[in-house]
Amino acid sequence: MSNLIVIGAQWGDEGKGKIVDLLTDHFDIVARYQGGHNAGHTVIIGGKKYVLHLIPSGILHERKLCVIGNGVVVDPLALKQEIDGLEGAGISCKGRLFISNRAHVILEYHRLVEKRDEDGRGEGRIGTTNRGIGPTYEDKMGRRGLRFCDLLNPGVLRQGIEASIRAKQAALPTPAGGVSVDGLVAAVQNLAGELSEYVTDTAELLNRGIDEGRSVLLEGAQGTLLDIDHGTYPYVTASSATAGGACTGTGIGPTRIDGVVGISKAYTTRVGEGPFPTELLGALGDQIRTAGQEFGASTGRPRRCGWFDAVVTRYSKMINNLDSLVVTKLDVLDSLPEIKICNGYRYKGELLKSFPPEIEVLAECLPEYVSVKGWNSKTAGIREYGELPQLARDYVARLEDLSQTEVSLVSTGPDRDETTVASPNSRLSRWIPSIR
Ligand code: IMP
Repeated sequence: MSNLIVIGAQWGDEGKGKIVDLLTDHFDIVARYQGGHNAGHTVIIGGKKYVLHLIPSGILHERKLCVIGNGVVVDPLALKQEIDGLEGAGISCKGRLFISNRAHVILEYHRLVEKRDEDGRGEGRIGTTNRGIGPTYEDKMGRRGLRFCDLLNPGVLRQGIEASIRAKQAALPTPAGGVSVDGLVAAVQNLAGELSEYVTDTAELLNRGIDEGRSVLLEGAQGTLLDIDHGTYPYVTASSATAGGACTGTGIGPTRIDGVVGISKAYTTRVGEGPFPTELLGALGDQIRTAGQEFGASTGRPRRCGWFDAVVTRYSKMINNLDSLVVTKLDVLDSLPEIKICNGYRYKGELLKSFPPEIEVLAECLPEYVSVKGWNSKTAGIREYGELPQLARDYVARLEDLSQTEVSLVSTGPDRDETTVASPNSRLSRWIPSIR
């Protein structure tokens, strides 16, 4: 039984939801380890679309257990709505969903602070999702956050809310931005009561599960380039979206994890602000956006689109020690006569040797492209790798070569079945023998 991490190898929205859903059949437990309801994982099963923000997509599979780990920040109201939405669709979370009692909680004022911070940044705004994610992680690191285990104790809850609001008061237009502490304490206690059946020590649950031979799929949210440490800082999210975050965000030790699978689109997208070297600003970018329906699953914002960037995937490979790469949305490129892949960044005439940490440098990098001929035929919905046109397979081979990472699966459409196995002997198929 293997325990695997699935992460985004780009700037998020790589199609992790679909791939996690596909892999879930082979695992007993699916766990989220960072981020919050800024994520939007779309899964289409038999033509029916589900968008999950906090709950692992494993919930759509009968008998699988789902964990929201300690590294996730949880808006109790958003979680309650997601649970109710699933129950309404006939999918019960009872006895299958477990929320860490150490997970930090997003409250109303976190969103107010985020809006104030974003407005204050003016031109330099990050383009956050306005879900209160950043300010909640700030409270966590500032050691004034509230965790699920604190919510049922009225004294601790009130103290925590007051301390957090006090720290923000100077920044808010009116005390707590007009939030009533009494009202908030009552509302949070009410929600905490309703969610209490799901709250537990998930580190114990996961480790006991592994001891007993169960396998865990660790589902990353966002992507490597949005990671707080390794991403394009400050245009990043506030959590550890890379493979390392899976250990701290669940309490599973690194040596209990067997491998890391990266997900990458056949091109690149980014939502929000920040440098994006291979961005296509003209008609071609619009064409990819339309073909790929590149609009945020959480916020509906149009995504910025550009060519595949092998500098990014090589960096992701290093940071996450990727064993295998899954390429999604190949079909979006079906009608392009020529396709480009970035294989290097030139800065002030020099070819850079590593991914630059300075945002000003990245913003001025000129991509060095390799051009390949498009296949100009329909790959959408193809389920056998051998049925892909030769030029499409050549393109995948080029991505593999330039990313220095084996490609195990290639996705040709949003449905679970629209997936091809690129290599019958990939590491993925060694961990999961039925994927061949
Ligand atoms: P935050 O996570 O809301 O703080 O937003 C910080 C940055 O991460 C912004 O550029 C967002 O657009 C981006 N971001 C956050 N979540 C996602 C996601 O799930 N997919 C893609 N981008 C995201």
